[in-house]
Amino acid sequence: MEKLTRRQFLQSAAVHATGLAATGLLVGCATSESAGPPPHVQTAPEGETALPEPRLESEMSLEEAIARRRSVREFTDEPLSFDEISQLLWAAQGITDPRGLRSAPSAGALYPLELYVATAEGAYHYLPRGHALQVVWEEDRRPDLWEAGLKQSALQEAPAILVVTAVYQRAETKYGERAERYVKLEAGHAAQNILLQAVALELGAVPIGAFYDDQVQDALSLPADHRPLYLIPVGYPRT
Ligand SMILES: Cc1cc2nc3c(=O)[nH]c(=O)nc-3n(C[C@H](O)[C@H](O)[C@H](O)COP(=O)(O)O)c2cc1C
Repeated sequence: MEKLTRRQFLQSAAVHATGLAATGLLVGCATSESAGPPPHVQTAPEGETALPEPRLESEMSLEEAIARRRSVREFTDEPLSFDEISQLLWAAQGITDPRGLRSAPSAGALYPLELYVATAEGAYHYLPRGHALQVVWEEDRRPDLWEAGLKQSALQEAPAILVVTAVYQRAETKYGERAERYVKLEAGHAAQNILLQAVALELGAVPIGAFYDDQVQDALSLPADHRPLYLIPVGYPRT
């Protein structure tokens, strides 16, 4: 897959936006077609960068991905491509249905999860509606995530760290005290999708639960109600 500089990473988005809209799989993609987007597609607002269209086929079967998945904690320096980052985020929380339903199940379809990704170039908030990124930081925040994660080496080596956070209130409105259970179960669904997608991309990853919540929030300047549940460093395995 193509490797891009940060500038290319952010500028390439518009090129990829049209295809997504055409598939009807994703909601909210910018499109350059003069006929206008389908009814369920919205134009990506200013400041958002559409991600490349996710692929829906793989040379690796689901069974093989499950069998091959192992926690990987040592990575090469090779950065992830824009396509790979797009695919991982889509696997976790991408919209897969014109009604807005996503790749991972959600109690009451309330979707309390919010995803972030930190790379050498910056930190980005994933916007499922539009399959887009919003820039949060234009600098490398991985060293701060490494500190927050008890200086685990996987966080220092990985070219990308996916951060799964949750807004508990979205589920509490309907489920009350039961919401905490549902939100954490849902984070597990999303994380497993990331881990299996990583295998299918010949990447490695490890789900990390040992970190200081407040330090992760500070590292990415997360909103107070975006509570971190998982750090998932991803990269090419160093064998
Ligand atoms: C909730 C949870 C938290 C975890 N936290 C960490 C962690 O902080 N650091 C780490 O290196 N691995 C972490 N792991 C990964 C486990 O160590 C790993 O899954 C286990 O050793 C089994 O190996 P496998 O993933 O290769 O099957 C975590 C796994 C889970 C499910």
